[in-house]
Amino acid sequence: MVKRSNSHRGRLIVFEGIDGAGKTTQIELLEQYLRKSGRPVFRTAEPTDSESGKMLREILSGNVSRTSEELAVLFTLDRIFHNVGSENGIAKMLANGVDVICDRYYYSTIAYQGNETDPAWVAQMNLDCPSIAKPDLCIFLDLSAEESMKRIEAGRSKREIFETRERLEQVRRAFFNAFERLPDENIRIVNAARPIAEIADEIAALTDAILSK
Ligand code: TYD
Repeated sequence: MVKRSNSHRGRLIVFEGIDGAGKTTQIELLEQYLRKSGRPVFRTAEPTDSESGKMLREILSGNVSRTSEELAVLFTLDRIFHNVGSENGIAKMLANGVDVICDRYYYSTIAYQGNETDPAWVAQMNLDCPSIAKPDLCIFLDLSAEESMKRIEAGRSKREIFETRERLEQVRRAFFNAFERLPDENIRIVNAARPIAEIADEIAALTDAILSK
């Protein structure tokens, strides 16, 4: 059971993982878990739906070309907006005692963009930014590229599958490299190759631990 915490401030919980790891399902289940125990929850994601988020989606879709450094700065800019936004900003939510569950955060920028440019710079830009909140918990849903491919391969050609698999492996490695740069963060690697309920139970326990602090 979720314990009532002494602190009024909400908690920031981030989910990361490669494609097919089950972020969406587990985010949904954690949201329900927190709501059931009477905690207000705000669910959000990056890139955001703001102008900077739209710009990022345009770049990610391949319509516009940008360097890795430009991308790293744009994702960080989008994150600053995400934190300080006057309507649904993370800072405001946390201050109002609302728990925030975020699908991707700076771990993604350090993993994806850091892998293509100087990761120390990417990490520093995010960690040292006064308006980017440090998560109370980062849950990395860990799945092998092989297992991930099994879950998402339907309907794709062999060649595409091969390329995607290589890419998934690269991204997974990039996440672990990123985590090594972040010794002061509460990052939990959760084995995502298990039944949904088992994973949800582990995440609930990890969440209980930060709520009672
Ligand atoms: P999205 O449509 O949210 O897909 P997903 O379900 O995979 O989260 O697209 C997010 C994409 O953006 C994803 O491929 C990872 C990438 N990304 C970065 O490269 N850097 C970042 O900082 C973030 C937040 C996402």
